Amino acid sequence: MVYYSSSSPTSTQKLLVGSLALLGSVVASPAVNQPQLSNGVDKRGSHSLKPPPITGDWSTTLPVRRQVDSGVCETEACKSFAKSVIAGRAANYTKVDPCTDFATYTCANWWDTHDFRADQSSIGVLSIMSDVNTALMRSILESPYPTNTTINSTYATDDARNLDKQNFEKMIAAYNSCMDVDAINSVGAKPLQNILNAFASGFIKNKTADLTDKIIWIQKYGGSGIVQASVTPDDKNPDITTVALTTGLLGLDAKEYYSDKGALANYTAAIVGMFDRLYGEVNHESILKTANDIVTLEKALSDASPNASQAGDVEYYYNPTPIAAADALLPEISFSRLIKAFAPSNYNVSDVIVYTPEYFPKVSSILKNTTSETIDAYLAWVLIQTWAGRLSDDVNAPYRRLQNELQGKDPKAAPERWRTCFAEVDANLPWIESAFFVREAFSPEAKTYGERIITDIEDVFMAKLKTYQWMGADVKEKAIRKVQNMVEKIGYPDISPNIQDPKALFDLYAPLNVTHSFFENGLAFNDFSLKRSWSDLSHPTDKNRWFMTAPTVNAYFNPPSNEIAFPAGIMQQPLFNLDLPEYVSYGAFGAIAGHELTHAFDSSGSHYDENGAYRDWWDKATLAAFENKTQCFIDQFSKYTITTPAGEPLHVNGDLTKGENVADTGGLSAAFTAWQKRNNAKPNQLLPGLEEYTAEQLFYLAFGGVWCGESRRAEAVRRIYSDPHSPPSVRILGTVANQRGFKEAFKCPIKEPTCELW
Ligand SMILES: *[C@@H]1O[C@H](CO)[C@@H](O)[C@H](O)[C@H]1NC(C)=O
Ligand SMILES: *[C@@H]1O[C@H](CO)[C@@H](O)[C@H](O)[C@H]1NC(C)=O
Ligand SMILES: *[C@@H]1O[C@H](CO)[C@@H](O)[C@H](O)[C@H]1NC(C)=O
Ligand SMILES: *[C@@H]1O[C@H](CO)[C@@H](O)[C@H](O)[C@H]1NC(C)=O
Ligand SMILES: *[C@@H]1O[C@H](CO)[C@@H](O)[C@H](O)[C@H]1NC(C)=O
Ligand SMILES: *[C@@H]1O[C@H](CO)[C@@H](O)[C@H](O)[C@H]1NC(C)=O
Ligand SMILES: *[C@@H]1O[C@H](CO)[C@@H](O)[C@H](O)[C@H]1NC(C)=O
Ligand SMILES: *[C@@H]1O[C@H](CO)[C@@H](O)[C@H](O)[C@H]1NC(C)=O
Ligand SMILES: *[C@@H]1O[C@H](CO)[C@@H](O)[C@H](O)[C@H]1NC(C)=O
Ligand SMILES: *[C@@H]1O[C@H](CO)[C@@H](O)[C@H](O)[C@H]1NC(C)=O
Ligand SMILES: [Zn+2]
Repeated sequence: MVYYSSSSPTSTQKLLVGSLALLGSVVASPAVNQPQLSNGVDKRGSHSLKPPPITGDWSTTLPVRRQVDSGVCETEACKSFAKSVIAGRAANYTKVDPCTDFATYTCANWWDTHDFRADQSSIGVLSIMSDVNTALMRSILESPYPTNTTINSTYATDDARNLDKQNFEKMIAAYNSCMDVDAINSVGAKPLQNILNAFASGFIKNKTADLTDKIIWIQKYGGSGIVQASVTPDDKNPDITTVALTTGLLGLDAKEYYSDKGALANYTAAIVGMFDRLYGEVNHESILKTANDIVTLEKALSDASPNASQAGDVEYYYNPTPIAAADALLPEISFSRLIKAFAPSNYNVSDVIVYTPEYFPKVSSILKNTTSETIDAYLAWVLIQTWAGRLSDDVNAPYRRLQNELQGKDPKAAPERWRTCFAEVDANLPWIESAFFVREAFSPEAKTYGERIITDIEDVFMAKLKTYQWMGADVKEKAIRKVQNMVEKIGYPDISPNIQDPKALFDLYAPLNVTHSFFENGLAFNDFSLKRSWSDLSHPTDKNRWFMTAPTVNAYFNPPSNEIAFPAGIMQQPLFNLDLPEYVSYGAFGAIAGHELTHAFDSSGSHYDENGAYRDWWDKATLAAFENKTQCFIDQFSKYTITTPAGEPLHVNGDLTKGENVADTGGLSAAFTAWQKRNNAKPNQLLPGLEEYTAEQLFYLAFGGVWCGESRRAEAVRRIYSDPHSPPSVRILGTVANQRGFKEAFKCPIKEPTCELW
């Protein structure tokens, strides 16, 4: 399951995160368009002690709720949460049938009372949480070193404070160089022009440089032209790190855009605009021809590429291949030389993983039919897209305009500068940033409560596994072991790196010099992350790394590590709150925890065994039953539609979204059962002003409230094409349609779930 839905061209990041399954596209698009090899490649963390499991007879069906009047919670926390539920709910909720339209029931007033900022293409409860985290980081970034925070006593050596201060200053230097708009404006297009000139004189005009030389050079500058080599765990031997070969960067996010006249016209205009600004005094007619040639080449490359479903399907992309055989797929480009240019000098290139087996031979024919001028222009365009975000707004305007158009924003919209500069720090000094965030926003109590919720849900999941008639005994046993082996990462990395240890962070970033120049810093970050990522070939897979920073409002399951991770940023209000009745944190955060756990058993995760190795471990009959159940989800979700900018309905892609939809359904179901156990032991109080609801109903209102949100129409279309997650309202509607618990709680006429797997 591959993901990342952001505004910038994302092919690079998509491929680097391999099979990662995320919770959703909830965070504002990163505004800095730069190579982000290290951001997101890091993963891993806490081997937490599990609290004792709650006990019970899980082999039977749902326990019957004891009817206990436990009263109404009147604390400030409860009053404030209740107010937010009422503020989101349809004003005319008594006229809306929750059984058929729980999204409107829960969110109509939220929709009516929230609007997009100019720089936003989507909004939601999760993006508001993200804004809160970002604002906290801003206040840290714009204040002096916080002397009032405490360093964990284990690491508080004599010079820990000093190192901590130096870490802070490195982060501030990166932030300030980004905030210095005057300096950025005064250098204008120059820094990128220097790179383009170096490319022209060293490679385009140099007749001894071949295509492989050019591609290597582009990749050193963080771009990927036509093809890309990257470092990744080997799915079949996840303790070993290996090299994957994939597609290069295409300027439009989805195949569909390459046959959309409007999108192509906008794209061509962006290329022309950027070339005009960067190459100056050149003939406009010839630039227009060049732009058209680039688009023609990209369309051919796009047609040759796997579609979004295939790109996330391990059965499609996992093709271990001897390097000589890989080289033979595309004789015009030497993969061996490409890899040797980056790998540690003593690395022996043997097998590589060919992610795109059909693409490479097709590229060979495309290249035969394309002039070298067009290929060179395309490669220059890759460099431009990679670095445009570090230029002044004025120079970058045509490229930003294109991103805005694709997302349905005002063509001139731009985020406030501090948001861009927060993104800079988040992407490039992620663990220093996380350290300072966590000290302000995450307590040991929060971590303990989060662990308990996750453990409860894992226990439920294992108990449910035992009950499935359709699963073979052997598969069932391995599946249970897979849950037992699951690694839970909660809050922030505490091993690789240990963000509580200032010296660990100091050492990690010691090779990185941060200066006053925003552009030079980008080059330094790129060198740093390239070296770091390729040096991974020298050691076993580092499973203690994380793929997300602490302030991130998201979560993930990483199949080859058999791990689920929850950054501190998502364990916050209104999803997670120690002071509220438990149905809130179980219905909201718990459903997210269950979602990630269920990914281990969706159409993608189920290919990985109890040790995270890609392997067939399902017998035929169980697999057939699994596929039959999955097909139900494909059919169910394909019926939902969104509205395009032209006012036409566009169907959800049930195939592309099947893994996420299964995860949403299974996650909510496990969270509900886990919460019921807790509620039976100690009945939850109701909420003030919401006394008409039972605790069960409040559980589902807490769940639905997570997904109040909406996208601009063009953005909604973009996500249908490229995002494995269903649109927010569909995540409410489709998921509750699959819950017996929901239908009983709201006394719906039909109690049978539409589709059910876990
Ligand atoms: C309830 O209000 C919404 C606007 O928030 C409106 O679109 C809808 O038609 C109303 N439903 C009923 C049943 O009155
Ligand atoms: C430290 O001081 C700042 C500025 O006064 C304040 O915003 C922050 O909440 C304080 N942090 C802690 C952990 O006390
Ligand atoms: C301090 O670090 C130690 C060792 O890593 C860890 O066990 C402890 O939980 C940390 N304390 C806090 C408050 O995070
Ligand atoms: C031309 O390219 C070749 C191969 O990459 C390289 O060895 C040589 O240094 C280049 N010449 C110039 C003048 O850049
Ligand atoms: C192309 O740009 C125009 C004008 O900015 C915009 O209205 C249109 O929606 C864009 N088309 C696409 C497919 O992005
Ligand atoms: C992707 O391609 C495969 C094979 O051609 C096809 O079966 C599948 O339906 C396609 N999926 C999407 C989302 O287009
Ligand atoms: C690579 O292969 C050479 C020759 O077979 C061998 O001497 C060397 O140790 C190998 N290097 C690594 C890192 O395995
Ligand atoms: C070669 O490229 C031209 C346009 O540049 C295109 O019309 C034609 O279909 C291509 N032929 C092949 C075999 O790809
Ligand atoms: C960082 O700066 C120091 C001191 O100026 C220098 O010695 C070192 O080589 C620089 N490191 C990098 C990676 O540029
Ligand atoms: C699943 O199996 C049932 C019973 O064998 C069958 O009726 C149903 O059509 C199948 N569904 C799909 C989507 O294949
Ligand atoms: Zn997911």
